[in-house]
Amino acid sequence: MEAISPYGSIRNTWYVAGLSAEFPKEKLTGHVVASRPFVIWRTKDGNVVAYDDRCSHKRFPLSKGKLMPDGTLECAYHGLRYDSSGRCVAIPSHPSGPIPPMAKVRPAPVVEQDGLVWLWPGDPARSTDRKPPRLPEVGDDAWESIVVGPMEVPSNYLLLIENLLDITHFYPLHDGNIGDIANSRIPVELEEGVTDGNKFCGTVRKVESYEQPPYLVDWFHYKIVDRIHTHFMLSPAVTRVQMRNAPPGQMGNAEKERGYVLVHTHTPIDARKHVWRVIISCPAHHMSYGDPTMTAAQRVASMFPKVAAEDRWALEEQQRMVEYPDEGYQEVFLKPDIAIRRARKIFLDLLREEQSPAPTSQAAAE
Ligand code: FES
Ligand SMILES: [Fe+2]
Repeated sequence: MEAISPYGSIRNTWYVAGLSAEFPKEKLTGHVVASRPFVIWRTKDGNVVAYDDRCSHKRFPLSKGKLMPDGTLECAYHGLRYDSSGRCVAIPSHPSGPIPPMAKVRPAPVVEQDGLVWLWPGDPARSTDRKPPRLPEVGDDAWESIVVGPMEVPSNYLLLIENLLDITHFYPLHDGNIGDIANSRIPVELEEGVTDGNKFCGTVRKVESYEQPPYLVDWFHYKIVDRIHTHFMLSPAVTRVQMRNAPPGQMGNAEKERGYVLVHTHTPIDARKHVWRVIISCPAHHMSYGDPTMTAAQRVASMFPKVAAEDRWALEEQQRMVEYPDEGYQEVFLKPDIAIRRARKIFLDLLREEQSPAPTSQAAAE
């Protein structure tokens, strides 16, 4: 089989187009997801709809058009009007003529859940094979959630996923803030499986009676903890990081546990750029230790822009190197890179599946 690069962009999967709050009623927004342009908006009735951003007439972006009082979308160039399913219903230059059957744009499947709008940029017929991963903490009032981003990153999104599955880069990349070499030396356990049609993989790091680095004492109070730290790619769209800390012997005691859930959304614009959001969630009533006037979520979020800028720099530099042909280059995988290997395999399998679709029953019979 011909070698393919894992640094492509997968289309047959659900991606985060934005937070629900980014889609007020009747505001047209243009997006590019996996190299396909989409216009997305919330109708008067409150449903989010999406279709091809290119007008079927002369490719003018429909996101630059306007919504009419009857809910149709009017293209700003020659005025073709489309209903919310993408069917052309009026052509100003042909007021009485029939509407050509090709005058339509392709709708894209959309799901709204957990405070996020999800879009399927691939084959709509495949969109029932997988569901967007559930993210219960996002949008739950018992949790305070703070969003960092959206940030446009000039790299393939798999490089971000690999970064998120890997804490061994905290030193030296994040030296001076979350840099912590001791973290990197905790043994990892791999977990993988399939949920709602999405293959996932990740690592679990468990320690007992562990001395926390100063920034974690600042966020979560305890100096010595039992700790469970997990990093999971839930699908090509999201990576979830969770840290649970409790005084020794108290893990599982909801009154004592402190920590965070970080949901990273990574939506490819194309194979070389993506949009990154970080949703930081902590129990809403938890205050930080470092600044008792700030909640834990606010305190974590205050450190994030600097950390994200350091990661962004690394991703941009790696992307430059990914662009060169391998020509004998051999990548080294270290023990803690185990989840990165699995994520690459998931990407390669999904990309191969798209490049060589399963044979139709007729072709199979021949
Ligand atoms: S390009 Fe849209 S109406 Fe002509
Ligand atoms: Fe990082």
